[in-house]
Amino acid sequence: MPSSRSPSQFTPQRIAVVGGGGHIGLPLALFLCDFGHDVTIVDTNAQGLENIAAGRMPFHEHGADELLPKCLTSGRFHLTTQLPPLREQDVIIVTIGTPVDEYLDPNVRTFDRVLGGVLSHMRDGQLLVIRSTVFPGVTERLGRQIADRSLNIHVSYCPERIAQGHALTELTKLPQLVSGCTPEATQRAGELFRELGADVIELSTVEAELAKLFTNSFRYINFAVSNQFYMLAGRHNADFDRIYDAITRDYPRMQGFARAGFAGGPCLLKDTMQLASFNHNLLTLGQHAMMINEGLPRFLVDQLKSTRNLQNETVGVLGMAFKGNCDDPRSSLSYKLRKVLTLECRRVLCTDPYISDQEFVSLEECVAQSDVMILGACHSEYRELRTTKPVVDVFGFLSRN
Ligand SMILES: NC(=O)c1ccc[n+]([C@@H]2O[C@H](COP(=O)([O-])OP(=O)(O)OC[C@H]3O[C@@H](n4cnc5c(N)ncnc54)[C@H](O)[C@@H]3O)[C@@H](O)[C@H]2O)c1
Repeated sequence: MPSSRSPSQFTPQRIAVVGGGGHIGLPLALFLCDFGHDVTIVDTNAQGLENIAAGRMPFHEHGADELLPKCLTSGRFHLTTQLPPLREQDVIIVTIGTPVDEYLDPNVRTFDRVLGGVLSHMRDGQLLVIRSTVFPGVTERLGRQIADRSLNIHVSYCPERIAQGHALTELTKLPQLVSGCTPEATQRAGELFRELGADVIELSTVEAELAKLFTNSFRYINFAVSNQFYMLAGRHNADFDRIYDAITRDYPRMQGFARAGFAGGPCLLKDTMQLASFNHNLLTLGQHAMMINEGLPRFLVDQLKSTRNLQNETVGVLGMAFKGNCDDPRSSLSYKLRKVLTLECRRVLCTDPYISDQEFVSLEECVAQSDVMILGACHSEYRELRTTKPVVDVFGFLSRN
């Protein structure tokens, strides 16, 4: 939540968030507005903006349901699908999605196209903050494109590092990595975040771009280490969770050892592939991590097949979101699990308390109708699960409760 501030230190600014209807942009926009800035969300998703204007959060974000109505009545919160209002701003923050394409290469052309539009509505003296995760070198290139247009715009790169769903608490708790193509860009962007109460760490633009990719690739590889050990233990009839507990308990050097589980979601794999692409496709650890993490659903099904005749059975998948207590199905490995199961068993039932999908069933129905279940996401609701039927739990979540 926004921290308390002394009015004398605060300079309200007009800030536009391009992509401000999304998972990164919207919490940031709400936070900035609640802090006292005048905020304009620019987003091409008209339906999403309609929901926001009606006070409905388009996705689950802790604390946002209470904050959104406050912002809507503040007089400092505006929503538009159009770019022209960018000219009236002091600061423009870009939070659009930056996916990789079907060849696992970053889709830089889309970013270029959107930024081309943004620049054509900017004026001298503005600060442009790139908050999306970008391919290294993109920020400096943007700085050169701006110079080519003879514009005096200060370009900064400040990557977002929050855990999705927890932005409102993490925005000021985490240090902000701040970089700029000009000293003034670094200084102004740093000031914006310091004013919010965050610590600021200054880097060069390429260092900040790599810092973000290193963070996500490290986490992705870290999960792969645990997933590889999980599969290894499983093949030798050993219980990974018992080993995990034994080697992490009161042993400081293993505290960074991740739990096994599905490493899905919109960022970790994508950013590991961006880093590989940046390094001329040489990121052996990252590429192996992809094979391991993406292979986990198949491994779980093969293990089940070794002891059961799945062709006659109904298998339930508990949780379709990419992580626990989250309503986001993007790149969730539960969907890959469903696909594998569809080919292997008589029927697949999916359930998720946070995602509405006509094909999903209630938790009660899933438990009643399934012969065996696989945990796909560690939602808190499953802590109360009481069933005598087997549940495959790669996360070790149910036994911890
Ligand atoms: N989701 C996370 O947890 C997370 C964490 C850190 C960093 N990031 C990075 O932040 C960026 C955004 O991710 P996200 O999860 O918020 O994506 P998202 O898809 O939820 O949000 C992107 C928003 O941009 C809008 N948009 C697309 N094209 C546009 C355009 N031309 N003009 C205006 N708006 C446009 C979309 O409608 C959408 O609302 C990505 O680079 C991602 O890697 C995400």
